Amino acid sequence: MLRQMSRFFRSCGTRVYSQYLNNSYIFQDPNLNDPPRILITGSLGQLGVEVARFLRDIYGRENVIMSDIIKPRKEVFNDGPYIFADILDFKGLQEIVVTHRIDWLIHFSALLSAIGEQNVPLAVRVNIEGVHNVIELAKQYKLKLFIPSTIGAFGPESPRNPTPNITIQRPKTIYGVSKVHAELLGEYYFHRYGLDFRCLRFPGVISSDPPGGGTTDYAVAIFHDVLRTGRFECYLRPDTRLPMMYIKDCLRALWEYMVTPAAKLKRRVYNVTAMSFTPEELAATIAKYVPEIKVTYRPDSRQQIADSWPQVFDDSAAREDWSWHHKYDIDKMVTAMIDDIRRQYN
Ligand SMILES: NC(=O)c1ccc[n+]([C@@H]2O[C@H](COP(=O)([O-])OP(=O)(O)OC[C@H]3O[C@@H](n4cnc5c(N)ncnc54)[C@H](O)[C@@H]3O)[C@@H](O)[C@H]2O)c1
Repeated sequence: MLRQMSRFFRSCGTRVYSQYLNNSYIFQDPNLNDPPRILITGSLGQLGVEVARFLRDIYGRENVIMSDIIKPRKEVFNDGPYIFADILDFKGLQEIVVTHRIDWLIHFSALLSAIGEQNVPLAVRVNIEGVHNVIELAKQYKLKLFIPSTIGAFGPESPRNPTPNITIQRPKTIYGVSKVHAELLGEYYFHRYGLDFRCLRFPGVISSDPPGGGTTDYAVAIFHDVLRTGRFECYLRPDTRLPMMYIKDCLRALWEYMVTPAAKLKRRVYNVTAMSFTPEELAATIAKYVPEIKVTYRPDSRQQIADSWPQVFDDSAAREDWSWHHKYDIDKMVTAMIDDIRRQYN
């Protein structure tokens, strides 16, 4: 249905794709009549598969090229262009950009917070050297470059409730350090070379796809475990408050930000969020729909990471500058996740 509607909008050239994503206003996308060619790196992770599907619905299957260093599932491979791209191989990336006439680069390859701590040298290579490569590539070929950042780009010295767009950033994970590096380098290339760099600091993103080893992963795992077994053991304390966002809001945020005219942007790095909750509050909301749920708590090393992260994220700058607004609160997200995951297991 979504595909049919977007094809219809594209074929009419009406540029009102988001009218049915978001009834409250019409979001103008100047790219629909001349769709950009988009490369997504690290596209087989939690966000990449969903972002590719979303952008293909808007811009057409052939215009969105998924890439990663791992072998795709058959459904992903059959769904549109998929190629091997190692972000540590600069020449290989150049070849892809030239051969596929890339206009936008969405750079998702990364080692997330918990995984990064287990292999710091690899995280330095993937998260820092990888960014050096894509940023030079984007400059050379005049690409619009999106690199996501995270609540993990803040640390214990940052104000945690709320955490403003501009404040102290002294993260204590290699993941956070590499994201601050990407934010600063992107801003620098924007000021120095006019690179169209765009960055959103996402909170924990909740979707039914398997997460990649971050500290907010419990908010995805709880749905799978509870719907399969009725039980969940949480690796964070029950009162650990963290900012979160449902995948549909995340996709819409990314796209709306990418098509916002540069003149409207007062900065290149924006906080975005939708809600903030604790494991206890999430479990209580799920219990409204699955009353037999039983959750136990056994904090591990991820607790220390979570304790240094924002509890409530201030995204007022995004709301003011490009009209960001979320549509999913905790109740709406929980019902959507339960529906999604029940469908997966049935
Ligand atoms: N998922 C979240 O909740 C969240 C929140 C904030 C920010 N982000 C950011 O969004 C991006 C995507 O996150 P995700 O959750 O999909 O991550 P993920 O861990 O699920 O996926 C990352 C992908 O990067 C790939 N990769 C690793 N090394 C590579 C290399 N050398 N070359 C090419 N690809 C390589 C992996 O194979 C993997 O598929 C990341 O940059 C992450 O920091 C995610």
